[in-house]
Amino acid sequence: MSRALKYDIPGPDWRITPEEIKEKGLRESFSRSSEEHVSLVVDLGFGRGEFLLALVQQDPDTLFLGVEYSFKRVLKMARLLARSGLTRILLCDATAEAVVGACLPDASVREFYVNFPDPWPKKRHHRRRMLQSAFVAQIVRCLETSGVFNVATDHRGYAEWIDEVLSREPGLENLYAPDGWRDSVEGRPTTSYELEWRAEGRSFHFFRYRRQVGVEGPVSARDRAAELDSQPS
Ligand SMILES: C[S@@+](CC[C@H](N)C(=O)[O-])C[C@H]1O[C@@H](n2cnc3c(N)ncnc32)[C@H](O)[C@@H]1O
Repeated sequence: MSRALKYDIPGPDWRITPEEIKEKGLRESFSRSSEEHVSLVVDLGFGRGEFLLALVQQDPDTLFLGVEYSFKRVLKMARLLARSGLTRILLCDATAEAVVGACLPDASVREFYVNFPDPWPKKRHHRRRMLQSAFVAQIVRCLETSGVFNVATDHRGYAEWIDEVLSREPGLENLYAPDGWRDSVEGRPTTSYELEWRAEGRSFHFFRYRRQVGVEGPVSARDRAAELDSQPS
């Protein structure tokens, strides 16, 4: 029998809606902590939140935004954070596409993570994959100069797709070149998904790309994102 969901937040509630971010502005949404912490890291589709929590605990000088479209997962993470005493983190219950596309200003993010996005293995479902050219162009628009985009997947077919989408993006430089990806990354926090899958003997694909300096400024990246958005997928 599944346990009943607890809706009360036992402390500060760090959830925020995309509308609130748009209204207040990203920096202002973090209120007092934004003055002391200069850079922002965003985890898209944070799931159970272990990776995001490990990042926040490792890096006391940074602000964090977690985006996840499962209401239940956001609620559980908000309950956990309320008890943690952490204040440099906000959770947004929305799609990654909506937040990246409409809430994050140009050149505002130091690092993005997309860990183990749903692979949608059937060909007819590939259009549902998060890593699409238009979305990646939006990521580039939001990255600071030399900001970094990290992606991880355990699915070989999706890894090949991601490799193609990322290597085609002129605003990004592959930090693992000449390899497309690595199968492990030293010092990276592990998630419960990852531990389960490693135990099953699955292989891993980690991507790390940096925003190319001098190739696409925020304005041209925005124009490119708009241009890709207007193309049929
Ligand atoms: C396989 S889980 C991985 C979770 C976590 N990143 C990890 O590594 O443990 C994929 C997560 O992405 C979320 N998700 C899928 N598509 C999303 C989207 N478009 N926007 C936000 N979250 C999404 C799902 O709800 C799920 O929690």
